[in-house]
Amino acid sequence: MSIQNSNKELIIGLFGFGVVGGSLYKVLKDTPGLNARIKKVCIRNADKERDAPAALFTTDAAAILDDESINVIVELTSDADAAYHIIATALSRGKAVVTAGKSTVAAHLPEFIALQRQYGAPLLYEAACCASIPVIRNLEEYYDNDLLRCVRGIVNGSTNYVLTRMSRDGASFSDALQEAQQAGFAEADPALDITGADAANKLAILLTHAYGSTVQPGQVLYTGITNLHTADVAYGRQKGYDVKLVAHAGKLDDGRIAAFVLPTFVPQDSRLYGVANEYNGVEIESSLADRQFFYGKGAGGFPTASAVLSDLSALRYDYRYEYRKLQPEGAVHVSADYYIRVCISCNGLLQVRHSEFARIDEWVSNKQRCYISGIIQISRLAESDWWRQEGISLIAYLECIEQYGPEAVKAESDWIHEEVYAD
Ligand code: HSE
Repeated sequence: MSIQNSNKELIIGLFGFGVVGGSLYKVLKDTPGLNARIKKVCIRNADKERDAPAALFTTDAAAILDDESINVIVELTSDADAAYHIIATALSRGKAVVTAGKSTVAAHLPEFIALQRQYGAPLLYEAACCASIPVIRNLEEYYDNDLLRCVRGIVNGSTNYVLTRMSRDGASFSDALQEAQQAGFAEADPALDITGADAANKLAILLTHAYGSTVQPGQVLYTGITNLHTADVAYGRQKGYDVKLVAHAGKLDDGRIAAFVLPTFVPQDSRLYGVANEYNGVEIESSLADRQFFYGKGAGGFPTASAVLSDLSALRYDYRYEYRKLQPEGAVHVSADYYIRVCISCNGLLQVRHSEFARIDEWVSNKQRCYISGIIQISRLAESDWWRQEGISLIAYLECIEQYGPEAVKAESDWIHEEVYAD
């Protein structure tokens, strides 16, 4: 459906009236220039009190999906299966769709791309990655695939909030997570945030727009912040690092893609170091432009609603993702055949088989923990789970992936170093 050519008002059927849906409702009331109005809102629980006229609400999805006067569906539910059904049905009926549903988009993107092409209806999801930061549209429109060396960033606001509160204020993990939930940053199931699943979903989406690869989030190596020890954060600070959950994507020499989400030691001279609380930051490195940095609020009602609003506004000029970087045969593959530099934090040096490392550069022990830094092949991490066991945490170093090719690994380490802290 061409909204622009039909010169119609955007008549919206909204699914979900939580933190983001409620914020969008308020914002649309204050943006008359957009010529958009919400006709119906589908919710799950009709008994909950809401700050909007009761006549607006229904619990019947068909009342929206079957309504031919509704030309735009905004999907903001927290139910990934329901979201899939809503998006697929709406697209196949020629309705434009705007969603913030990262897990649904990440899991079904090839099918959604096919539906968009078959029925000519656009699906926009800028709100699905980094909320207020327009990272998808920039990757899609501005950056040429060949020149894009790497994209890495803090893409989950809740974990960044938790880590900031632990690192700067000494807050406990559980208190900080509760605050993130109360502020409306966390997912309905916060396990998605703290296990890194939400960041992996976002990374999978970013990979499509950065490199044209449609990988499933499960193909991306990821872990969250649940295994981090309070001492890890303090150790990082002693060394001049902050620990952040970082999504990494980079192009390897063989044309394949490196992609992973891991807690990461971020040095003070990185732009990501200053990204605190629910803010997100994405660093893009391309051959000619060198480094660029996107920064903004990555979670919360209004920041997310701002991206939804921007997508609605883009429908006015018939904007749609062209997916120009997609390879017809899906040829861009995520590789497990590269090395990264990590630090393993553990209770004792014997807890970790040293043969897991291609090279060990440093051992450090203090009264609380032992830290082994060195180079590990990603495929070895992907094939094992020793590093996910309780009492062990793995923290990557931020440096670019590609410098740890086989040559660097083979090079003899001349700085093996042992250090014991008194405290
Ligand atoms: N739970 C998500 C986050 C919401 O904390 O980043 C925004 O996608």
